[in-house]
Amino acid sequence: MINDMKKILVSEEEIKDTVARLGKELTADYKGKDPLVICVLKGAIFFMTDVVRAMDCNVELDFMDVSSYGNGFESTGEVKIERDLDTNVKGRHVLIVEDIVDTGRTLRHLVELLKHRGAESVKVCTLLDKPSGRVVDMEADYVGVVVPNEFLVGYGLDFKQFYRNMPCVGVIKEEFYE
Ligand code: PRP
Ligand code: MN
Ligand code: MG
Repeated sequence: MINDMKKILVSEEEIKDTVARLGKELTADYKGKDPLVICVLKGAIFFMTDVVRAMDCNVELDFMDVSSYGNGFESTGEVKIERDLDTNVKGRHVLIVEDIVDTGRTLRHLVELLKHRGAESVKVCTLLDKPSGRVVDMEADYVGVVVPNEFLVGYGLDFKQFYRNMPCVGVIKEEFYE
């Protein structure tokens, strides 16, 4: 897996430090609010499990499976909800956890949906932010690492569903794209 990488962009160490920093910020902001933390499947799975364990407050967890990339490099522009929440968000402080914000379409869609459903507050925490990819106006409230405009894999991010279980984030060598 790691041998398929042209370079490592975010190391395990940097992920660990980033998670710890975000965990502290989130703890300070969410203590006493019993937030509902939403993991956006599948990409956010590892980041969510790590970041909630860095939060020293009561949280409830739920999952939403959303996809817009399918197996390609480019966002289809259509955000599909493959699995919805179990929890009623009405009156809740909701924290959406994402692996990456690229065009911003996935998040914009989710934030609007959850506000429409009556959430008391909706905030977003993302491990990676790719501002150069933005197509819609959408910024996360908590950002881990700002990344350049490259196709990234690892720590949840996939290429054709693979590489998600790599413990760091990297760029694949061109020869593996075929
Ligand atoms: C990826 C990524 C984010 C979203 C970001 O998910 O995990 O959820 O795209 O892109 P955007 O800002 O352009 O919307 P994907 O659709 O690939 O589904 P996955 O998480 O199951 O891989
Ligand atoms: Mn995703
Ligand atoms: Mg994907």
